[in-house]
Amino acid sequence: MGAPDRGEWSSQIGFILAAAGSAIGLGNIWRFPYIAGEQGGGAFVLVYLACVLLLGLPVMLAEISLGRATQRNPVGALEQIRPGTRWKLLGYLALLTGLGILSYYAVIAGKVVAYLVGYASGGGAEAAGVLFGGPWKVCVFLLVFIVLTVLVVVGGVKHGIERWAKILMPVLLLMMFALIVRGLFLPGASEGLAWFLTPDFSKISFEVVLSAMSQAFFSLSLGMGAMLTYGSYLSRHQNLLRCGAWVVVFDTGIAILAGLMIFPAVFALGHDPTSGPTLIFEVLPSVFLGLPGGVVVGFAFFFLLSVAALTSTVSLLEVVTAYFVDERSWSRTTTVIAVGAAAFLLGVPSALNEAGVEPWTTVTAFGTTGFLGIMDFLWGNLSLAVGSLLLCLFVIFVWKVERCADEIESTAPEFRRLRTPFILAVRFLCPIAIAVILASIVLH
Ligand code: PHE
Repeated sequence: MGAPDRGEWSSQIGFILAAAGSAIGLGNIWRFPYIAGEQGGGAFVLVYLACVLLLGLPVMLAEISLGRATQRNPVGALEQIRPGTRWKLLGYLALLTGLGILSYYAVIAGKVVAYLVGYASGGGAEAAGVLFGGPWKVCVFLLVFIVLTVLVVVGGVKHGIERWAKILMPVLLLMMFALIVRGLFLPGASEGLAWFLTPDFSKISFEVVLSAMSQAFFSLSLGMGAMLTYGSYLSRHQNLLRCGAWVVVFDTGIAILAGLMIFPAVFALGHDPTSGPTLIFEVLPSVFLGLPGGVVVGFAFFFLLSVAALTSTVSLLEVVTAYFVDERSWSRTTTVIAVGAAAFLLGVPSALNEAGVEPWTTVTAFGTTGFLGIMDFLWGNLSLAVGSLLLCLFVIFVWKVERCADEIESTAPEFRRLRTPFILAVRFLCPIAIAVILASIVLH
């Protein structure tokens, strides 16, 4: 059993909102639209939905149930089930991945905060550009974001993470609805809508499937122990199926809404859907510009996006923290500060890349140029796929899929009907699909 003061969610909805808070973040609102844009719109969306349902949901349920069954962090959970073996390396990989993603994710989150401050000052995107210009400034915003994350995580599970998620996630949803309605009324919006929602099957290629799968794992926070750790704070009464399913529904819903929010405006305002990571930072300010009170809307939007990013960085930091608190008996405060400092230092090269400093902008590896992109490929794509694959293998060969299904069914009788498809997915579909895709990355 874990230490008595590990903390626990106060309610099922507390878990769902915190886990959805982890899942919903820049991945949905910044990364999903630009990748969908690069990969051809509707066709990508369709493949993405298939990946979420067939691979994401089973891995999500496996992760949460492993967490709840062991009530431990990723390393401790594996150790508890099979002590003294190399399986714990998978747990360490999860910790490293958490740190790796946190380091560059906080750079983009810092950019969101720069936009927030730009709008708060009344100067909008132009002011944000000035604020975020130059290496020092980008590093300062990175630091600001890490400090914010540290402050929330120090507060612990119930008071820190859960309280914030409960208040702010619903507000984000409302705001997005408002922006979608606004975007749909722009002349020419329907073209963007059609582009985003009509799949052109000829565009489905191996690369599209690969990006869709990586995006699904990233967006659902899978493969690095975040869901495992959050599941470990669930009590024995809560319904795992419902918890996992809601998180998947919310996360996917928000990604689709983000597409609906952005693409009609992209087409109506003459932007290029394939413009890559800068997409939302270019398109949304032009939408806000055309609105009465646009500065206030911009402020509200970037505020909520900062919060969405924060509930994600919190989960990244929480995974690493849970390990040091559970297994090494470090105090929560010391751990959080030490890990935050490490994430900052590791994030500096990504920040310098974002600020346009050589050689960080020109380093090339794995077919990706720029340090931030390389980190994203390494931790945000590759490592999550490896982590999810190994997690499936652990469940199949060590913990046993039947036992995992029992854990879910123990509090979710309705899971009985889904038991067989779940077992088939974890045993065959997920490992085979992920392995094929990984092999293709390696052989590329
Ligand atoms: N899912 C988060 C997002 O979409 C990012 C994340 C990945 C968070 C992995 C935790 C773990 O923004």
